[in-house]
Amino acid sequence: MKYDFNKIINRQKTNAMSVSGYRDYLFANNPDIDLPFNDDEFISMWIADMEFAVAPEILDAIKQRLDQQILGYSQIFEPDYADAFLAWTQSRYGWTFDKKHLLNSHGIVPALFELIKLTCKPDEKVLIMTPSYGFFKHAADGNNNELEMSNLLCDNGHYTMDFNDIENKAKDDKVTLCLFCNPHNPTGRVWSEDELKQFAQICLDNNVTIISDEIHCDLLRAGQSFTPLAKLFPDENIITCMAPSKTFNLAGLMFANLIIPDDGLRKKWIENNFPIVNPLSLAGAQAAYSDGHKWLDDLIEYLDGNFDFLSQFLTKNLPKAIYQQSESTYLAWVNLSAYFDKSENLTEFFAQKSGVLLEGGDMFVGNADGCIRLNLACPRVRIEEGLKRITKSINQREQL
Ligand SMILES: Cc1ncc(COP(=O)(O)O)c(C=O)c1O
Repeated sequence: MKYDFNKIINRQKTNAMSVSGYRDYLFANNPDIDLPFNDDEFISMWIADMEFAVAPEILDAIKQRLDQQILGYSQIFEPDYADAFLAWTQSRYGWTFDKKHLLNSHGIVPALFELIKLTCKPDEKVLIMTPSYGFFKHAADGNNNELEMSNLLCDNGHYTMDFNDIENKAKDDKVTLCLFCNPHNPTGRVWSEDELKQFAQICLDNNVTIISDEIHCDLLRAGQSFTPLAKLFPDENIITCMAPSKTFNLAGLMFANLIIPDDGLRKKWIENNFPIVNPLSLAGAQAAYSDGHKWLDDLIEYLDGNFDFLSQFLTKNLPKAIYQQSESTYLAWVNLSAYFDKSENLTEFFAQKSGVLLEGGDMFVGNADGCIRLNLACPRVRIEEGLKRITKSINQREQL
């Protein structure tokens, strides 16, 4: 491997959500909660960013941009960025899109909030699949849209879509938008082409607009392949969201890609969102897509090792855990319901008893009792320490 993912980097006093912002997010109802650990004593496995240094190619590009000395208002006028991103989707997914359809936003979450406003009337409903990334719900709530939740089916930790249920919900005339996650956070599923076709056809037949959030698509386990939904339906108005943020640990740069084929919607977006970009974010994103292939391939190899480590650890130490390796993302979704009552707040339990910050099932909207999400994008020694602490507190609880 050319790059080092074992290096421990101290994030204290860098304003990192991961180590300094967990109270307001994980314990939103009680941010002053008394916890028996100092901030720097926790193992942080919650928010979806990485403990790894950004690729030197990206840091160099940002430094070069800084050397140009002026950071004034910027928009994307040069063709280089769109060319680099298009070359990326072509080489990784065999997918080309019309460059005219590409817009940029200050992150996918802000884009979801805005797109819901532009596509959904207040009395219309938004369809999501549960468990779900929490901000899908927050975005619908933000526009006062009611949610329709379709529970994913789970067979020994393997999740699939319930097409009958999705169809029944999509038939409701009030359901006009689906926020779709592929690869899926938190289960890690990479939906197959057959699954994608079946799902999208239901939505198209029932006039349900699809926003396909594909932010995790670059982080595939070895042997997995990813298909952008819009590649399968090139003539339909499917909205695609992708970003360099998860892939290259650039979330703080707040830069994401939206591919919006519908001319009217794109026009509305532009009217409501002046397309200004942060020049440092642009430089970083462009370098990521142009020069980041090798770094990403190394990262994927390292993450695969972390996932293998977790599998072996669980089999040996927590054999009643139900777990299937995520097909993408750096997030592991582990069902610990054999060890806990449904009512237990797992986020709080592991923060209190283990000194591990993680997200329990209640943070994923529904259909997630007894589950935890573990972020494995950190040096393996940290994962080992986190898992040992988790196991110790479960064992202590079992002995009570
Ligand atoms: C499915 C999904 N969408 C969006 C985001 C966040 O996107 P952004 O940081 O670009 O707002 C996340 C972060 O975890 C995510 O998992």
